[in-house]
Amino acid sequence: MIQIDLNEGEIHLWRLNLETPPVDWQISGLHLLSKDENERAQKFKRGMDDYINTRIFIRKILSPYINKSPEDLIFDLNPYGKPFLRHSDIQFNLSHSKQWAALAVGKNCELGIDVESTSARHSTLDIAKHYFHPDEISQLERMTSHEEKQDYFFRLWTLKESFVKGLGTGISTGLDKMNFTIDHKQAISADFSPDLQLKNPQDWHFFQYELHEASVKNWCAVTVRSSNNINLVWM
Ligand SMILES: CC(C)(COP(=O)(O)OP(=O)(O)OC[C@H]1O[C@@H](n2cnc3c(N)ncnc32)[C@H](O)[C@@H]1OP(=O)(O)O)[C@@H](O)C(=O)NCCC(=O)NCCS
Repeated sequence: MIQIDLNEGEIHLWRLNLETPPVDWQISGLHLLSKDENERAQKFKRGMDDYINTRIFIRKILSPYINKSPEDLIFDLNPYGKPFLRHSDIQFNLSHSKQWAALAVGKNCELGIDVESTSARHSTLDIAKHYFHPDEISQLERMTSHEEKQDYFFRLWTLKESFVKGLGTGISTGLDKMNFTIDHKQAISADFSPDLQLKNPQDWHFFQYELHEASVKNWCAVTVRSSNNINLVWM
């Protein structure tokens, strides 16, 4: 079995195009799923194939990091539903949009990842006004073109979601508790509300990528909490 060794601070990013998964997975990969995963798959009215392919993807990707067969991985959930590997120093986080499943893998760190398609037609400014920090709303309001607003909204949204997924508490944390800025050099900075009681705010690192396929643009944000220097690699 191939083994992958990760150094602390090294983050591997994997993605699966859910529109073109490996053709044999639905047949040869089904046995990798646990009883619970199989039962959950059967409950899907729509999206069952995506769910199954994503579970196979997670198991196949994580397996060499912990030197176990894909079917032998055991997952637990934190009180907010964040999955983690039992008895392991390998951490991971998953996000799926319509087209992509993306997985971040690291060692002895906290991880969050979020992918969103920017094709949504709803009024993103209304959503921002409801959920974002006042400074972020001001940044959006100052933008003149609809395209620029829409794009910046999704950049902020994915950063926020990846952060609350890194915290492990999810959106119940309140998306106005953090204030992100992306400057003209694409540098990302964040201020945090004291409510979050972050012990070492400087240990939280943020990264962002565009995932393009055909005409649809997706933003992907990754949050890492670690006191090490971070090196992210797309695999
Ligand atoms: C986590 C959350 C932000 C996901 O947002 P999303 O953009 O809709 O979905 P994404 O595709 O990016 O992420 C989904 C994946 O995140 C992971 N996840 C679930 N809960 C998580 C959490 N609290 N923190 C980090 N990751 C989480 C799972 O792997 C999930 O995949 P699955 O649905 O296939 O199991 C949102 O669902 C949330 O806030 N959940 C918390 C709910 C909660 O507070 N529950 C408490 C009672 S259990």
